[in-house]
Formats: sequence, C-alpha cells, structure tokens
Amino acid sequence: MLRSPIRASLLRAISESLAREPCLETALEDVLERCLDATSSRFAAVYLADSGGDAPVRVMVDRTGRSGGFWEQQGALDPKALARSIPPSEVPPPPEGHLHGGPGASRAVVAAIGDVHRRSGVLWLECAHAELDFDEWQALANTVATQIAQALARRRTESELSERARLATLFADVSIALASGDPLTTCLDRCAAALHHQLGASVARIWMHHESTGTLSIAASAGNPGRSAAPFAEPEVQSVLKERRPFLRVSAEVVFVAHPLLVEDRLLGVLTLLTRAPLTSAATAALAPVADAIAVGIERKIVQKEQSELQAQFLQAQKMEAIGQLSGSIAHDFNNLLAVILSCSALLLDELPEGDRRRQDVLDIQHSGERAASLTRQLLAFSRKLVVEPRVIEINEVVMNVQKILGRLIGEDVELRIRLNAHDSRVKADPGQLEQLIMNLAVNARDAMPAGGRLLISTERVTLDDKFLEKQGAFAAGPYVRTSVVDSGCGMDAETRSHIFEPFFSTKAVGKGTGLGLSTVYGIVQQSGGFIHVESTPGMGSSFHVYLPSSVESISRAPRASSQRTSPQGCGELILLVEDEARVRSLAARILRDRGYQVVEASGADAAIESLKESSRAPELLITDMVMPGPSGPDLADLLRKRFPTLKVLFMSGHTDHPIVLGGALGRAMGFLHKPFTPDTLAGKVQSLLAR
Ligand SMILES: Nc1ncnc2c1ncn2[C@@H]1O[C@H](COP(=O)(O)OP(=O)(O)OP(=O)(O)O)[C@@H](O)[C@H]1O
Ligand SMILES: [Mg+2]
Repeated sequence: MLRSPIRASLLRAISESLAREPCLETALEDVLERCLDATSSRFAAVYLADSGGDAPVRVMVDRTGRSGGFWEQQGALDPKALARSIPPSEVPPPPEGHLHGGPGASRAVVAAIGDVHRRSGVLWLECAHAELDFDEWQALANTVATQIAQALARRRTESELSERARLATLFADVSIALASGDPLTTCLDRCAAALHHQLGASVARIWMHHESTGTLSIAASAGNPGRSAAPFAEPEVQSVLKERRPFLRVSAEVVFVAHPLLVEDRLLGVLTLLTRAPLTSAATAALAPVADAIAVGIERKIVQKEQSELQAQFLQAQKMEAIGQLSGSIAHDFNNLLAVILSCSALLLDELPEGDRRRQDVLDIQHSGERAASLTRQLLAFSRKLVVEPRVIEINEVVMNVQKILGRLIGEDVELRIRLNAHDSRVKADPGQLEQLIMNLAVNARDAMPAGGRLLISTERVTLDDKFLEKQGAFAAGPYVRTSVVDSGCGMDAETRSHIFEPFFSTKAVGKGTGLGLSTVYGIVQQSGGFIHVESTPGMGSSFHVYLPSSVESISRAPRASSQRTSPQGCGELILLVEDEARVRSLAARILRDRGYQVVEASGADAAIESLKESSRAPELLITDMVMPGPSGPDLADLLRKRFPTLKVLFMSGHTDHPIVLGGALGRAMGFLHKPFTPDTLAGKVQSLLAR
C-alpha cells in the first residue's frame, strides 16, 4: 500500500503542477511523471476529448522501452465515448490485448476525467507496484483524474473570464475611438487596431460604402494579410453589400468573417476579419454589437462633419461681411480725402506754368492719389458698395472680349484654352466687373504657374438643385451659368484656401501682390447675386468656379458714352451744392465757380432748404452727397423736386447702398458722380446733366 505521506505529497505536487504550469500538455506530462515516480510504474496516458481548447489533447509517458503505438491500439477502446457515458466506478479494466507486456505490466486502470455533467477524457495508469491492490490503485487514479478535471474547470473559467475581459476592452476601445474628436479615418484606424488586437485577428478591416456609386473602399486596416489575403477579395465583401447579412467562409488555412455596418436599413460599410482559427462563440456573438457601435459612430461622425462644415461656412460668411463693412467705411472716408488730393493737384497743375519744376512734385502727388483711388475702388468692390451698371449680357461675349488681353497678360509659357460650352450664357451683371473678375482669376493662375502650364477658361449652363446649394448658403435652385478658371499651377493648402477672399491676404512677396484680387472677385460675384466655389490641392492646380444666376431677359446694349468736352463751361446756372465734408464742398464750389456757375453751398439737407428760402431764383441743379447726417441726398432730392419739378440732380458718393444707384435706376434728370473726382469729371457731369 502507498504510504499516506507519500500519497499526500504526490497529490499536493500534482495540484501545484496543474495550477502553476501555463501549458496544459506540459502540466499533464508532469502529473503523469509524478504518478509513475510515486508508484514505480512505467506507463501512463491522458486523453482529453474536450479540454476547452481547440483540439483533443493526448499526453503519454512511456518508460517501458516499447516503441509507441499506444494511441493507435486504442481504436477498440474509444476514450471519448468511455469518458462520456460511464460513471468512474464502472470504467472497465482495459482489455487484455491493450496491456503492454513486461514484468508487472498486468495491471492497468482507467479513470474518467470530469463529473457526470461534463466528462472530458480518461486517465490511463499501468502499475507495476507490487504492494498496491487494484482498488487502491483505481482510487488513486480516480483522485488524480478528479484533480485534472478540477484544473481543467479552473482553466476554462479563467479563459472565459479573460475572453470576456478582452471583448469588454474591445467594446470600450471601439466606443472611445468613435467618441473622440479625431477625424473619422483616425477613429476607424483605432477600431480596426482594437479588433485586430483583441480578437487575435490576422487582419481587421473597415470598408466604407459610397452610396452614390454603390461601391466599397477600405477606410481602415490593421494587421498583415500575408499570403492568405485571397479571401479578402472584393467579391466576398461585395456579397455583404448585396445581402446585408454577415458572411462566413472557412478554408483550410483561415476563417473569413464579414459583417455589415448598418444603421436602420442603411449600409454604411462592412467589417471584415481574417483569423487563423475559428472565433469562439463569445467572440462571434460580440461582433454584432461591435459592428452596430461602429456603424452608429460612423453615422454620428458624418453628421458632425456636415454640421461643422456648415458652421464654418456660416462663420466665414459672417467674417467676410464684417470685413466688408469695415473696408467699405474706410474706403468711404478715403474717397473724401482723395477727392481733395486729386482735385487740388489738378487745380495746382492748371496754375503752374509749363517748365516749373514744382509740376513734377504735383504730378507725383496726383499719381499716388490715383493709385490710392484704384485701391479704394477694389475695396469698395469687395464690400459690394461700388456703383455698378448691371445689364443682361452674355458671359461668353465677355470672355471673348478679354481673350486677347489675357493672351498678352499670361505670357507664352502658359497654354490658354477657352471652351464656351454654355449655349445660353445670359446673366445680369456689370460687364466691366465681369471682365475684371476673369482677369483677376487669370492673373492669379499665371502667378501660380511661374514655369508655365495650362489655363482653361470655360463656361457651362448648369441646373443646380437644393442639395448642391444647401452647402453654398441661401441661393435659389435653378439654372446658373458657371464660369470656370482652371490652372495646373502650385495649388493651395486648406489654410491658404480659408483666407484667399480676405482683403490684403496675399502669399506673394512684398510689393508683388496687394491681396485685393480675389476680394474684388468675391465682391463682384456677391453683387451679381452668385457665389464662387474653389477646389485646390497643393501641387495639383486650382479651379475657381463662379456661378451666376442665368437670366432669361433679352440682351441690353450699353448706352453710348456721351462725348465730353475737355473743359466745359457754364453760363451762370444756379447750382445748390450739398456736402457735409467742408473741404470737398469748398473745392467743388471753387471748381464750379471757376467754370462760370453760381453756387449756393450747404452742409446738409436742412441747411439747403433753409438757404433756398433766401434765394429768389430756383436752382437748376442740385449736387448732393448721398450719405449725410440728417436727411440723405435722395430724400433731399425727392423733396426739392416736388417744389422744382425741372430740377436736375447729381448725386456724389464714394459708395452707396442706396437702391436707386445700386440698381442703376437713376432717371434721365439724375446723374451719379463717383468720388474721388477730378475737376474735369465734375464739370463734365454737370454740363451733360444741364444739357439734357
Ligand atoms: N490660382 C491660384 N493658385 C494658387 N494660389 C492662388 C491662386 N489664386 C489665388 N491664390 C492665392 O490667394 C492669394 C490671394 O489672391 P489675391 O488675388 O486676392 O491676391 P494676390 O494675387 O496675392 O495679389 P493681387 O491680386 O492683389 O495682386 C494669393 O496670394 C495666392 O496665395
Ligand atoms: Mg491676384
């Protein structure tokens, strides 16, 4: 009989070994070795049909010196069936033929591993210990088998717990990734990495569904498909696209799983996994909620992106509006100053004799004033406060008109192509402004291609729907004429793109660009009721698309310019001059008096009405500033024309928001003089109005 201390220490050692050793086979081998050592026996084996792992486990320790063949001989004794169906006490002794020869090899016991609920294998012990009787020996085998069963149950529980922890971590990783503020592709990369890592997949991929084309493309991938990438072929994934159900393929080498990413019945993408071994049932069950979380996350990200784009557009529009107002008011003040500078220099030039060396200084002042006036004009164009003469014109005609100048402007290195595809390119706009718009865009394109390239100017009639226009702001759906200026130049990054329409934004060297080209374009497009769309990638060129509402009215030709004499003279006509800026007023009065007119000056509408009370004569002409403190110029004109129906009116302004002027709706008896003016332009306007 095996002495109790030895038996106790054997069982303790077995229990330790089963608990400590992570590899099941090594632990079982150690157990069998110890059994053989303690009982001086020579052969032991364990067969586990269900170890909780993937494949049956067979471990054998043979000290008989015979060569193998044991498992092969067990055909008649099916350990799996044996383990499942027979209570341990009824496990029969091995049949004679299965015992190995040799001294003391006549006794062998088989003990079932597991309990009645879960039989998973058998322990086989041959014993040569003379002092052990069969019952004792069987009892020892049963105890060892029980220890093995307990160890297996513990391992199973541990592995289930660790799998549950891994799946919980997977879920958490995916949720955290999708809740982060990162761009969608970064979030999906992290989801794919979590799937790859936590599910032990060789490759995890997330495909995005493009609804417009009905295609899928890989948005994120983690792991390396290696040679077994074949099951990742498009058709397999495409089948999920059609069926919208999970897809599973098990081949000799790998398992391929594809899961649709659905929100309600909309397919946002597909999740695919390539694994070396089948997924456990828990992992398979976890795939559906993980796929749902990814689908919902993708949808949320797309909605967030659209919202933030709209928000950015709104902010951009607000910013442009604010800059517009600021630059408009600066330009207004500047124009009054420039009116004085330009008029005074013109008057001085008249007075200085030829050959006077001071003439050059005055010419320099005049030249600088003119340059400042042209900059101010561009600012006004941006702030949509330039007085324009919109009429129905063909954009195709405008493009053809500027074609010649463009050729010279862009140089020989740039190949210019013009494609006028719009069969009807009528829009309502100021032709001069449209010419300037095309020139500004073309000059920018040339600057973006210092080593030459291609420049395409094209027109197209397009019908825009609400979906397209939603992104542009408040524009009515319908027919538009699109003018595109496309270059193959250096392109722009997103940061540059977000500033290009701001006045004075330029990336050109100091002195090379004022940064007013595109802000002028922006103002012109806005003033003409359209919008502009820019596409550009660094190194890949730029496309500027200008959309103007198509017009159905018939073409209106420009009124012929009236020929002006160079130095018009008056014959004592009475002019009422109303201007709040004292310097501008006195200068204009001086110019007019010098040319033979009688002038009554007033600093505002009320003063003007007052001054008429004293005068016995009806004025022939009212010259008034548009915007003044108190009643505006147009209000004053309305009032006086009721009293003096034949009164002519000349409005002056650096800019105006007034609809009469903005809409070009001045009557025959009215005119408009843009500030800053020169003595000749003022006198010319006055004369032509009085002559009507
Ligand atoms: N076709 C283009 N390709 C690349 N960048 C462009 C293009 N058009 C404009 N830009 C960028 O936009 C900026 C602003 O253009 P904008 O026409 O307003 O000013 P500018 O050309 O620098 O100066 P200006 O036109 O007043 O002489 C440019 O400096 C350039 O960085
Ligand atoms: Mg420019």
